[in-house]
Parts: sequence; structure tokens; C-alpha cells
Amino acid sequence: MAATLRFDVFTLFPEVFSPYMQTSILQRAQASLLVELQLHNIRDWTADRHHVCDDMPYGGGGGMVMKPEPIFTAVEAVLGAPPGCPVILLTPQGRVFTQAVAEELSQKARLALLCGRYEGVDERVREHLVTDEISIGDYVLSGGEVPAMVLIDAITRLIPGALGDPEGAWDDSHATGLLEYPHYTRPPEFRHWRVPDILLSGDHARIARWRRQQALLRTKQRRPDLLQKANLSDNDRDFLLDLELQDK
Ligand code: ADE
Repeated sequence: MAATLRFDVFTLFPEVFSPYMQTSILQRAQASLLVELQLHNIRDWTADRHHVCDDMPYGGGGGMVMKPEPIFTAVEAVLGAPPGCPVILLTPQGRVFTQAVAEELSQKARLALLCGRYEGVDERVREHLVTDEISIGDYVLSGGEVPAMVLIDAITRLIPGALGDPEGAWDDSHATGLLEYPHYTRPPEFRHWRVPDILLSGDHARIARWRRQQALLRTKQRRPDLLQKANLSDNDRDFLLDLELQDK
């Protein structure tokens, strides 16, 4: 039986994926064939004796550039020419990864993730092989491996059955377009800090309302930009209006 979603990762450092992929939700998702992960070492697809994958940039300047031949050979050997699925380059120059992008990609049957290293990849890889470029944020990492794991994690969580609790993914920060409400567990009092009484009340309707309002409050305080795009009810808007009146 084929997995629901197969990731093919092309990297010079396949070994960094294993510990994280063998943990918790990601491991379970693979064991239950919801996702499949295949790692491909780009170095295995070099034709020269020294397995060289990088070279100096034409025109001079610092840093090295990933050579096009091993990348094309690897991706086309695994996925065909042209590849029959999205080929995503992880790069700070890509579109920014968000929950909406994770949802979009979770609908695919197969995704190829290409991890850049050094100063980047030869431009011909971008122009003639890659179909999408994704950045995980406006900062520069040493390579695309950690960003690829970020994508795999966020996308896998969205595949039905990957989380034990079917509501888990829905309540998460960003899934609703809002930040999450605060969580508490036992004990009810720790160092004189008490869990809010309402959470101990057993009144599920009031608890749900309190959580929604906390999520709105948090989002307004920390990420007001998210409120513009969030799906808000009339009650939500009334609550936010009241907050504004209190501030005045
Ligand atoms: N490679 C280096 N930095 C990156 C980033 N912020 N996102 C995706 N890939 C990267």
C-alpha cells in the first residue's frame, strides 16, 4: 500500500534527518503509512572520483555554489524527467512558509524537497528543475535541511490520522488564524499560582467561550496583524470592540 504522501529529500546531509524523523508523531505517521520519507544523498549522483558537488562562482566573489549536474541527475533519476511532482527548493529567497502553504502542500501525493547548501544552487537548477521555492522565515540558515524538516513536520500533522486527537491540529496556533489560548495541567495550584477557576468549573460552554476570548486577546496583544485575516464571528468582534473601549 502506497503512503498518502511521499517526501523525497535531496540533500548533502541525509544523516541529520533520522533522529527527528524517528520521533513521536513523525515516526508514527511513517509506521502507519500516512507518510513515507526517502532521503537521497546528492553526492551519490556525482560522476567524478572525488564526488564534488560544489564549485567556485563564475564572476568571482566569496562562497561556493552547488553544481547543477548532480542535482539534475539525482532528481531526474528518482522522479523522472521532467519530475511528475512539485520540486521545492528551500531557500531564503522563496515564498514564506505559513500554515496556509502547509495546507496546500498536504493535499499533494508526492513532494520533492531540495536542500541548498553553501551560497546556493546554480541558477539553472532554479530555472529548469525547481517548481517552487520556499523560505521558512527572514533569516539565513546554513542549509535547507532544517527548513525541509520544518515543512515535513507541519505538513505531516495535517494528514488525517497523523495526530492521535482529531481536534489537535484544528486548535493549534495558526490553524484557526489566531494564536492559541493558554493551557494548564495539574496541579491546580503551583507555588501559589492558581489555574483559572473557570477551567476547573466543568462548564464546557463557558470554558469554550473563555478559550476563544483568550485566543483573541493574545492575538491582539502579540500578533494584531493576524486579526485582519482571521475568520471572526459577531461575538468575536464584539469582544474585541469591548477590549478597545477598555483601553481608552
Ligand atoms: N536556507 C537557508 N536559510 C533558509 C530559510 N530561511 N528558509 C529556507 N531555506 C533556507
